[in-house]
Amino acid sequence: MYIPYHRPRRLRVNSRIRNMVRETSLSRHDLILPLFVVYGKDKKNPIGSMPGHFQLSVDHLVREIREIYKIGIEAVILFGIPEKKDERGFDALSDSGIIAQALKAVKDAVPEMYVITDVCFCEYTDHGHCGILRGNELDNDATLEILGQQVQVHARNGADMVAPSGMIDGMVGAIREALDSEGYIHIPIMSYAAKYASGYYGPFRDAAESAPQFGDRSGYQMDPANANEALKEVELDVEEGADIIMVKPALPYLDIIRRVKDQFTLPVAAYQVSGEFSMIKAAAERGWIDHDRIMLESLTSIKRAGADLILTYFAREVVNKLKLI
Ligand code: PBG
Ligand code: ZN
Repeated sequence: MYIPYHRPRRLRVNSRIRNMVRETSLSRHDLILPLFVVYGKDKKNPIGSMPGHFQLSVDHLVREIREIYKIGIEAVILFGIPEKKDERGFDALSDSGIIAQALKAVKDAVPEMYVITDVCFCEYTDHGHCGILRGNELDNDATLEILGQQVQVHARNGADMVAPSGMIDGMVGAIREALDSEGYIHIPIMSYAAKYASGYYGPFRDAAESAPQFGDRSGYQMDPANANEALKEVELDVEEGADIIMVKPALPYLDIIRRVKDQFTLPVAAYQVSGEFSMIKAAAERGWIDHDRIMLESLTSIKRAGADLILTYFAREVVNKLKLI
């Protein structure tokens, strides 16, 4: 009979020793909660495909932010849904637009909350693409101009950090220049550096009413088949001055998170996107999986792969759960 000399199970025999040797742990400080804000008063529109999430009017947004701050969430990312959409996304460029209003109200009520803004145009344009179109193509360099204006609006109204998500070439450099020229030298840029053209964004596009009206985003977002290209994208964003680099989606792209973490020294963020969230919710509702277990396992895996920060719709549930562990 073969008697093993090595017995890794020694370190698994009870929860005390398992807790001692655990390599990865989740903390509330890792988490960023995405929130959707709409025009109006007393609006809390449920998002059908994202149980527990709502389009919130500014009054409800403030209430929500007060509550989550109390339970220990210290960072949110805001997505705005305008009342009117147009060709260039005017609402996003106005100091009375939806994000400007939300920033003012939130910063007034809960100044300690760290507020990140998503910087893109797909929620604001009537065609649903992430910038200015020329014909049916995204006009890259014309879009850089309005991205600069958009971050200046965010900075003026109190954003702590900006997060460009459009995969526009040069967006990080253009945004850094636009911020610095107005003196916002301390506002960091978290770049959606490696963002894939993913089917996992489906529920988000319902939530943000941002589905493209024709075509798709594969002219600017990345091909899911490519990995070296992700490293190139990250490298360019680092050169242009990104402070945090993001990989998105998260769980289907753990290899990319790991390679980015190994190759670069900046903090790495991963976005567990709407489809990842909704799939877990749907399967759990059917009783096919254990909700809390898979929630924690998916987030732990994302951290283990190398993410320092995770944008996740589970943030509130995780923080409540972590208190019990
Ligand atoms: C907008 C944007 C998207 C997401 C974040 N910012 C959607 C898209 O690119 O279509 C997706 C987030 C999610 O699915 O949770 N550029
Ligand atoms: Zn976009």
